[in-house]
Amino acid sequence: MSITFNKPPSVAFLTGQFTAENVIKKVTRSGDLSGVFHDIAAWQAIPSDTPIYEVEMLNSLQGEGELYVGMTHLHPGRVGNEFHMTRGHFHQRREQGEVYFGIRGSGLLLLQNEQRKAWLEHVSPGSVHIIPGDTAHRLINTGSEVLSALAVWPSIAGHDYGSLAQGFALRVILQDGKIQGKEVQNG
Ligand code: PA5
Ligand code: NI
Repeated sequence: MSITFNKPPSVAFLTGQFTAENVIKKVTRSGDLSGVFHDIAAWQAIPSDTPIYEVEMLNSLQGEGELYVGMTHLHPGRVGNEFHMTRGHFHQRREQGEVYFGIRGSGLLLLQNEQRKAWLEHVSPGSVHIIPGDTAHRLINTGSEVLSALAVWPSIAGHDYGSLAQGFALRVILQDGKIQGKEVQNG
């Protein structure tokens, strides 16, 4: 009997670069992040084509029981005093969780439940983040290099951005030279 060896995709742990066939890449630019940053004047001052983060996804199966694998590369920087971050979302299928792995750089994972209770986890190379169902999630780059994090989630989960239209209950800012979390009522 002949045995087949498939060549699996691979990831470079230092850079988070995938080597695989059919990597799907999506760039999110400053102009796509309307309503995300608190300081609107500072956001408007940034050229709208400035890349803020890229997501690379492996080409995988879709449907009940299948998993997606994606790498987010979040560029360092701030908009006003607020650190660069992803838009953030709940899953459309609320009960579906996700796992993030810190690969490169340093930052925070902002988590928030349906009752608007928010909390943070440090993201660094090797960190493992188990995101339960019913929990919104956003990456924040508080460091000076690209923050790369690997994510694995059920392909049926979907993304719900609309439920966070009023923003998260916590913002992460640089104040008095320190990284600080600031609770907010309305985004
Ligand atoms: O599945 C995830 O949670 C990630 O791959 C995110 O989609 C990625 O970090 C980009 O964030 P967002 O979808 O909030 O723009
Ligand atoms: Ni997700």
